[in-house]
Amino acid sequence: MSNRVLIIGASRGLGLGLAKAFHAQGWSVTATVRDRQKAGELAATGVELQTVDIDQLDSVEALAGQLAGRQFEVIFINAGVAGPSHHNPSQASETEIGQLFLTNAFAPVRLAERLLPQLADKGTLVFMSSILGSIAMGAGNGMPIYGASKAALNHLVRGMYKGMAESGITFLLMHPGWVKTEMGGPEAPLDVPTSAQGMVEQITRTLGQGGLSFLDYQGKPLPW
Ligand SMILES: NC(=O)c1ccc[n+]([C@@H]2O[C@H](COP(=O)([O-])OP(=O)(O)OC[C@H]3O[C@@H](n4cnc5c(N)ncnc54)[C@H](OP(=O)(O)O)[C@@H]3O)[C@@H](O)[C@H]2O)c1
Repeated sequence: MSNRVLIIGASRGLGLGLAKAFHAQGWSVTATVRDRQKAGELAATGVELQTVDIDQLDSVEALAGQLAGRQFEVIFINAGVAGPSHHNPSQASETEIGQLFLTNAFAPVRLAERLLPQLADKGTLVFMSSILGSIAMGAGNGMPIYGASKAALNHLVRGMYKGMAESGITFLLMHPGWVKTEMGGPEAPLDVPTSAQGMVEQITRTLGQGGLSFLDYQGKPLPW
């Protein structure tokens, strides 16, 4: 039987690239979108489609219901947002800050905890982080509110891992590189297939190893 992966947030960008890259490697791929009307390119790949908005508890419950009784070797929570375009902590409204931290930090961890029954024995939970979430390297490199939300994600995932260190689950926080997507912009040096292929290689290499790592798409460990 081929390995199974569930990718959360695959309508476009890196999530779509990951769905294609896993599919090309022979994995059985289930991938989610928020809106089926926008799933054209993903649907064309032939992978199984599900829907979820990770911010909405009822939507998360509906997905968990759809997947009840099924398991995946890898669950990859990729969904994320850039936050307000001004990137200025002093200008950000309560709504902007709340939305960003909900989508990038709290909703991924809440979803991962809800989907634990869907993770196969010694499976891998991957969270899409960013080098900008590294306290040591990210601060001062632009997008401070976004970086803070990814630092919060890293913190929450470390906490989740510490509570489950004996579980055999492999926890990965991935930095995809700076990639040409709607979020990354056209000036980014990397294309989606290169980053996605690299992440699939790192996930495959660490399958079943357990532990917690913060890695880039080439497997380089990043400082917290
Ligand atoms: N591009 C980069 O250089 C870069 C670098 C470091 C980290 N990242 C991270 O990589 C991930 C993917 O980024 P990207 O560059 O591919 O961005 P993107 O092109 O803007 O795609 C973002 C994806 O997240 C989904 N999404 C957003 N909010 C969601 C929600 N509440 N529920 C479910 N899905 C949601 C979007 O779905 P819709 O189509 O429905 O909006 C879309 O599929 C993000 O976590 C981002 O922070 C990107």
